[in-house]
Amino acid sequence: MIRVRVPATSANLGPGFDALGLALSLYLQVDLEWSDQNIIEFTGEGAQGIKSLPENNLVWQAASRVFQATGHRSAVKLSIHNEIPIGRGLGSSAAAIVAGLTAANELLGKPLNQEQVLALAVEMEGHPDNVVPAYMGGLTVAMVDNKQVYCQKVPFPDEIGVVIVVPEFELPTEISRSVLPQQIDQKATVSNLQRACFLLASLHNGDFSNLDKAMDDQIYQPLRKQFIPGFDQVMNAAKSHGAVGTALSGAGPSILAFCPASEQERVAQAMQEAFRHAEVNSRAYNLQVDNKGAEILTI
Ligand code: HSE
Repeated sequence: MIRVRVPATSANLGPGFDALGLALSLYLQVDLEWSDQNIIEFTGEGAQGIKSLPENNLVWQAASRVFQATGHRSAVKLSIHNEIPIGRGLGSSAAAIVAGLTAANELLGKPLNQEQVLALAVEMEGHPDNVVPAYMGGLTVAMVDNKQVYCQKVPFPDEIGVVIVVPEFELPTEISRSVLPQQIDQKATVSNLQRACFLLASLHNGDFSNLDKAMDDQIYQPLRKQFIPGFDQVMNAAKSHGAVGTALSGAGPSILAFCPASEQERVAQAMQEAFRHAEVNSRAYNLQVDNKGAEILTI
């Protein structure tokens, strides 16, 4: 049996749309083994809404892509335990895809290399900024050229903790992407490019003095915040209670705040309180950066 553990991820980090991503210490765990019939078991986050047919499950679909690509046809048993909130901008679909691809590839003795696994993952997900950190761990920069995925890991400062506040409602990525502009004006494009570069330099140099400004995305968040009651208030509450940077997590609706580990509790409470004022219930997670990515666990 193969056991794979894959982290949640937060994409964009403000201005790094479809490029930057960060792996977080919240996990999807998948066990995959040969069986005489196809079986799927699911516990944890999202288990209530699970479709009974294995074919409808994303981990299953990803594993099947590897079996198809390698001409394999045997039945398998898939057991999933999920800690990652679904449809909340925390990379639950990326984790499912990476887990299915990695587990199936491992079960078959690794017929696919890293490049091939990542190319399949990006093809299934549509963008690289969640699947890359889910696979590699840490803070990642991804680039896709002619269907090939290029990625680099950038060290993330140890002293920064991550608070994620998750509203009670789901925001499907397709809806959150449906308000994105067809055209972007040059001023906003330049501004976001400057900020994305500045953000990486700030994290690399451990200089957080203007991190908040660097994370202030000028293009996507202003359009997406219409879906999130209390968005500005939650971002401001985080900053006024010690966060050094805030962003919509991926396509939302969760909100991410970077702060010193000692301030995580305070920041999380302030963010939840601001959501409550907007009549939104939420859950808060005080997380660390996961540096391992998709990990094969020995059982
Ligand atoms: N970069 C993607 C988006 C992430 O913002 O739509 C989706 O999780």
